[in-house]
Amino acid sequence: MEHNETVELYQPRHTLIGRDSITRIPDFLRRLNAKKVLVITDKGLVKIGTVGKVTSVLDEAQISYTVFDGVEPNPTTRVVYQAFDFFKSNDCSVLIAIGGGSSIDVAKAVSILSANGGKIEDYNGVNKSAKQGVPVIAVNTTAGTGSECTAAYVVTDEASKSKMLMVDPNCLAFLALDDPMLMVGMPPSLTAATGIDALTHAIEAYICSVPTPYTDALALEAIRLVSRHLRTAVRDGSDMEARTAMCWAEYMAGLSFSNAGLGLVHGIAHQLGGFYNIPHGLANAMMLPRVMEYNRPYCMGRLASVAQAMGEKIDDLSADAASKLAIEAVRRLCADVKIPPLCETKFRMEDVDTLAKNALADTATLTNVVRPTLDDVKTIIAKTYFEGVVMKKVNANG
Ligand SMILES: [Fe+2]
Repeated sequence: MEHNETVELYQPRHTLIGRDSITRIPDFLRRLNAKKVLVITDKGLVKIGTVGKVTSVLDEAQISYTVFDGVEPNPTTRVVYQAFDFFKSNDCSVLIAIGGGSSIDVAKAVSILSANGGKIEDYNGVNKSAKQGVPVIAVNTTAGTGSECTAAYVVTDEASKSKMLMVDPNCLAFLALDDPMLMVGMPPSLTAATGIDALTHAIEAYICSVPTPYTDALALEAIRLVSRHLRTAVRDGSDMEARTAMCWAEYMAGLSFSNAGLGLVHGIAHQLGGFYNIPHGLANAMMLPRVMEYNRPYCMGRLASVAQAMGEKIDDLSADAASKLAIEAVRRLCADVKIPPLCETKFRMEDVDTLAKNALADTATLTNVVRPTLDDVKTIIAKTYFEGVVMKKVNANG
């Protein structure tokens, strides 16, 4: 990027990060003069009591609300319209999303639809809405997606199963909130997958084709925090230092990619999520090392800095050697937090052509450091798959 160009930066209007920050939500609802609030979430978070922690704050402040708990992973257009109908029929004026990317993405979609009308498909792409959406308070419960601080959301087309990525500053949250107390109950596998999602955001933003000094600083610090704290957060979910560090990491990584871009890891992961419902963080974690290998010749210096941020000693090494250490460090971290291989999912090699074609057309792929060919993408997916198959055989025999 030429730094004499003017760059427009995006962020949520307000942000709260830290222990018990949910108790401040009523202050923000008063500023919005909110009469009735729609809480958008999923049944799992209701069941484990996370939603109750937030709604008890609303009860105490005597704020009127209703709960839509029909969000599912990789939410489809159907879920968006269900939530939108709920919002209208209950006469709400503010949305509180409680969840990871899925609930926050549904709230952003409802926010845009409420202010702009039309169909959600109309907003597929970049800057497609005319008006600011209705206010969203995005309460993040997983330290990964960055959805609470980004100007983007993803909705799966019910019919084609492909993912639509909407990049739209009108969906930015009025308040983004990361309270580590809401994350203490997250199981290790989810902590791992969402943590690697945050790492992927930071790495893809750092090596993308349009980084800025601002997004570089956010990305490198996020990479450093994930590398230092994710293992502890996975091992001991109640470690508040690790949970708080992961909140900062995921927020900074989210701001970084929202203001720079992503790359081919997300381009492929979006398809794996849409086709097989593979959780987003896992899909990223499975693809990240191979895509880094593919991109490495085009960004060796930057990958050397990634290695350094991950704690690797690169002082006397060439960029070529140091950049390889970044990929090794990512592989080690994924192994330590027990990311399963692609061959243990519903992925089938016979779908590789379609997946690769859709990945090439995905908005995230547009900012990959180099423009891949269809064959490149097919090869990356196939290598990732067969590498897992071989590893399983080795482990079984070994
Ligand atoms: Fe992501």
